[in-house]
Amino acid sequence: MAPKEPIFLSGFFVLFCFLIPFSNSDCPKTNTSLLNYTSQFLMVQHQLRGVLTILDDCSFKVSKFDMLQGSDNVNWWGASGETFENLTRGFVISDHKLNQTYKSDSFIVNLMKNVTWDQIKVLAVWDFPTASDFGHVVVGSNSSSSSNFNGTGGGNSSTTMFDNCRVLSKNYRIRWSYSEDKDFIEVGLEAAVGVQNYMAFGWANPNASEKFMVGADVTVAGFKEDGMPFAEDYFISKYSECVVNEEGKFQGVCPDTMFESSDPVGLVNNTRLVYGHRKDGVSFIRFRRPLKGVDGKYDLAVDPKSNMTVIWAWGLIKPPDSLRPFYLPQNHGGTFGHLVLNVSESADDCLGPLEAEDKEDQDLVIADKKEPLVVSSGPALHYPNPPNPSKVLYINKKEAPVLRVERGVQVKFSIQAGHDVAFYITSDPLGGNATMRNMSETVYFGGPKAEGVPASPTELTWAPDRNTPDLVYYHSVYTQKMGWKVQVVDGGLPDMYNNSVLLDDQQVTLFWTLSKGSISVAARGEKKSGYLAIGFGREMVNSYAYVGWIDDTGKGRVSTYWIDGRDASSLHPTQENMTYARCKSENGIITFEFTRPLHPHCNKRGERPECDDIVDPTTPLKVIWAMGAQWSDNHLSVTNMHSVTSKRPVQVLLMRGSAEAEEDLRPVLAVHGFMMFLAWGVLLPGGIIAARYLKHVKGDGWFQLHVYLQYSGLAIVFLGFLFAVAELRGLFFHSLHVKFGMLAIFLGGAQPVNAYFRPKKPSAGEVVSQKRIIWGYIHVLVGRCGVLVGVAALFTGMKHLGERYDDENVHGLTWALIIWFLIGALTVMYLEYREKKRRRDRVSGGSSWVLGNGEEEDVDLLNSSRTVAEKDSHSSERMEVQLEPLSR
Ligand SMILES: *[C@@H]1O[C@H](CO)[C@@H](O)[C@H](O)[C@H]1NC(C)=O
Ligand SMILES: *[C@@H]1O[C@H](CO)[C@@H](O)[C@H](O)[C@H]1NC(C)=O
Ligand SMILES: *[C@@H]1O[C@H](CO)[C@@H](O)[C@H](O)[C@H]1NC(C)=O
Ligand SMILES: *[C@@H]1O[C@H](CO)[C@@H](O)[C@H](O)[C@H]1NC(C)=O
Ligand SMILES: *[C@@H]1O[C@H](CO)[C@@H](O)[C@H](O)[C@H]1NC(C)=O
Ligand SMILES: *[C@@H]1O[C@H](CO)[C@@H](O)[C@H](O)[C@H]1NC(C)=O
Ligand SMILES: *[C@@H]1O[C@H](CO)[C@@H](O)[C@H](O)[C@H]1NC(C)=O
Ligand SMILES: *[C@@H]1O[C@H](CO)[C@@H](O)[C@H](O)[C@H]1NC(C)=O
Ligand SMILES: *[C@@H]1O[C@H](CO)[C@@H](O)[C@H](O)[C@H]1NC(C)=O
Repeated sequence: MAPKEPIFLSGFFVLFCFLIPFSNSDCPKTNTSLLNYTSQFLMVQHQLRGVLTILDDCSFKVSKFDMLQGSDNVNWWGASGETFENLTRGFVISDHKLNQTYKSDSFIVNLMKNVTWDQIKVLAVWDFPTASDFGHVVVGSNSSSSSNFNGTGGGNSSTTMFDNCRVLSKNYRIRWSYSEDKDFIEVGLEAAVGVQNYMAFGWANPNASEKFMVGADVTVAGFKEDGMPFAEDYFISKYSECVVNEEGKFQGVCPDTMFESSDPVGLVNNTRLVYGHRKDGVSFIRFRRPLKGVDGKYDLAVDPKSNMTVIWAWGLIKPPDSLRPFYLPQNHGGTFGHLVLNVSESADDCLGPLEAEDKEDQDLVIADKKEPLVVSSGPALHYPNPPNPSKVLYINKKEAPVLRVERGVQVKFSIQAGHDVAFYITSDPLGGNATMRNMSETVYFGGPKAEGVPASPTELTWAPDRNTPDLVYYHSVYTQKMGWKVQVVDGGLPDMYNNSVLLDDQQVTLFWTLSKGSISVAARGEKKSGYLAIGFGREMVNSYAYVGWIDDTGKGRVSTYWIDGRDASSLHPTQENMTYARCKSENGIITFEFTRPLHPHCNKRGERPECDDIVDPTTPLKVIWAMGAQWSDNHLSVTNMHSVTSKRPVQVLLMRGSAEAEEDLRPVLAVHGFMMFLAWGVLLPGGIIAARYLKHVKGDGWFQLHVYLQYSGLAIVFLGFLFAVAELRGLFFHSLHVKFGMLAIFLGGAQPVNAYFRPKKPSAGEVVSQKRIIWGYIHVLVGRCGVLVGVAALFTGMKHLGERYDDENVHGLTWALIIWFLIGALTVMYLEYREKKRRRDRVSGGSSWVLGNGEEEDVDLLNSSRTVAEKDSHSSERMEVQLEPLSR
């Protein structure tokens, strides 16, 4: 402070000299109620902090002023209220412009001649082009006494202002104020880090001279997934993440409440969140804790008058899950430290505002050609550019996100934001029809007609072209500032890859391009995460995983693994031959890409696990995904395990460029399977049995039965076939099942055709023609082969089903099928035995039925060469019996 005083004084003096000749010589101090009025600025944006003091009727002093630079038209602004409407209808109150970054600056500002304090209920720092409130003071609110600097809150002190500030690291600061009488200290943690990070600060065990962490009483603060701040009291019993040991006791970095199984109303949990926000890429959280009135077990008393060691850290945080219902700070890389702090010694080494590298904190929605973007409206919770109306636009359920579109790629909107919201895309940052404000705008898309409600959404397509600028805005025609930015880019992923599909839950988009011998793949998460993994396989266990992640140094990496179990130890790094591998994170959205050969270059299969990771473009590829807070190369632990995963694999048809969820097919496949079973397992074999064993029954009943059974069997086969083709949207010959199935259908279909062309049946007494005998052979052979192939198709079908769903049921069904066919085979053997016996009886009876008596149908006429036929049919029956267990 000390060195600044002279500068401030001289500045004041210079200004003072200026003021006297030009304006202030005649400035009265009539408005006594506001004289010497002091208030802290409320931070809204641009890390604005400062103290306002009204000097007289036409000037005010601003001190300790911090602000990140805005546009070149940032003004002092007066308004009649704090609401959106009143602020936007405000007016410029001074010629002084705020055209730079301010770092703890102090200066005096003169009002314009025609402006008086009565007109100014709210004094704001206003960015004119974007109609942004950077920060403001409600003039005259509460008492006009001097500020309540000692951090007791309320009044006209601001939650972002403290008495003291210390720099912990380049991007991390602690601010504090305390009251010894009231026994509390309020701490503000401020860090220019990503929103997924926690900030921790606390007092080390006073008896420790090294290893300050053990026994330390810290507060862990951060933001929940919904953007709400939290601050929680933690105690460190051990250098580890919070785990439960064998005795069921918690140890490590755990919340106080975890050590104490029953906490009688916040006895150990005595850190209270006061305020928190995330602005300009900077996290800020203010909390309060007692100085001395602590539980003594997991909290340390803070003596404000003595030197104490404090520790700090920041790093990624894992959200609570069912096992550990609290925020779990992850291993922090190098981002921790300790220092000696005496809270009573005033300090301020924080010069100017923290400046984050990436100030854009808003969600990002990337438009793809396939899925329409759902435009709705909802309450404003974290609108990026306040002040704003209470209702703002949402895209895909995200509040006022940055929308990224690609030139030449059509964007579909499904507009359902209500009748009072007309969607349009404009060059005007404010929207709400610039013409009405006497400004000009270029409208690229939409207008008054682009409105709809959820019950009847309006679907419209916008095609950004080469003339669309890089930055435009989406807004409502009727109200200002409901939407946000549209980034228009060239050549995004949809442009670089031929195909894309959304994986399960619509959280991950997979892009790919097939080329000769290799495949290029890109994956993009649709929400913020520290890593994104996709796996080729049915579930994470037994899959080949590709992980895109950001390491401690902020570099994007892509790693490959073979996973054969559920815990971290079953994650085996593999050496896949990847080229063009890269990974990046934008607004927390991870995108990674790689190119790999379809067939790994291995000398022999099974040499290494990844040698079996063959991508066959003709087979559907099962793809799953997972996302989580943090990944690391060396010390993989349980905490690396995902926090969100796909619920089911998606089958990606690489050649066709489409995907389908697996389970949806089940009912249809079940119907297909049942129909095929009915046909190949019951009706068609039944028809053959009828033809073979019922001929001795009088009349041509057997023939009727044979024909009916076969025709109905074939009809069902065709229906079942159509079912499968319709559901799979095409016919693919790559699998054994389909090959068998098609052959069976072909053979089955050939039967009625050859039956139609069968040579005439010999009339009684006539010798059977050669043609008829040959036809008989063919008909019998083709029929039986058909059934055999059909049965093979049934079993390969079951195998497929098993591969797809890995169900217990499938095994059961397969066994049931085997037993069914075994019973069938036994029945056939028995019938065959009886038939033989019957014939032997007849032959020995000496009858001359051999040549047929008119009632006997064709097949038996083969009996002229009976021995051969018998052998043949026998062997085929036996083959059937043997094939069944084999074809599993
Ligand atoms: C305002 O402050 C000045 C100097 O600090 C003092 O001389 C003056 O009396 C104060 N005015 C009022 C109304 O408190
Ligand atoms: C704007 O300010 C005026 C005067 O202070 C007040 O009457 C009015 O209600 C305010 N408007 C809104 C929308 O709050
Ligand atoms: C800001 O404006 C003042 C004049 O009002 C000018 O002297 C100064 O150079 C400007 N600063 C910047 C950074 O443009
Ligand atoms: C004050 O005068 C300026 C011109 O000198 C004008 O632009 C501005 O609108 C006036 N402000 C008010 C509140 O009348
Ligand atoms: C604030 O603290 C200062 C010393 O830092 C003390 O002189 C003053 O009385 C305190 N004010 C209140 C309201 O506690
Ligand atoms: C600690 O207390 C606060 C306020 O009473 C409560 O919101 C929070 O959930 C508590 N934390 C735990 C871990 O019980
Ligand atoms: C605290 O440490 C500073 C030096 O860092 C020393 O000047 C001061 O006397 C110490 N205060 C106490 C109470 O030990
Ligand atoms: C804005 O309002 C003007 C006048 O009412 C109208 O002509 C113009 O079409 C409107 N602009 C849009 C984008 O609706
Ligand atoms: C990796 O693939 C490239 C071509 O895709 C091939 O030339 C190279 O030999 C492969 N390297 C290994 C180690 O398999």
